[in-house]
Amino acid sequence: MHIDHIGIAVKDLEAAIKTYEAILNTTCDKREIVISEKVETAFFQTGESKVELLGATGPDSVIAKYVDKKGEGLHHVAFEVDDIFKELQRLRDEGFTVLNEQPKNGADNKLVAFVHPKDNCGVLVELCQSLNN
Ligand code: CO
Repeated sequence: MHIDHIGIAVKDLEAAIKTYEAILNTTCDKREIVISEKVETAFFQTGESKVELLGATGPDSVIAKYVDKKGEGLHHVAFEVDDIFKELQRLRDEGFTVLNEQPKNGADNKLVAFVHPKDNCGVLVELCQSLNN
């Protein structure tokens, strides 16, 4: 298991992309809208891991609500797993609150599911499995 990416909720995606291009001294290598989540994502490769910027595409987006409530900042940490179904079952058996009944299609061609921050010292954890391989 390794950190696939960290997700950062932002207010203004265009401005945030410029900021992270400057911080990381690289260019954004992928942008993608996840219609079901009303979120636009922008990815930056940083070694083996990525930074995922998350901007709302509408006022009723989960990201808009998050930014309104908590401001911009770290939204989730995503761990890549080989078998997301097996890992989710293992976590349920351990007593963790899995927020998705079934993994769903997320950005970056992945199956994703989330574990409630209350069980993870305040950090929303995403499990993801790449559909590329
Ligand atoms: Co993510």
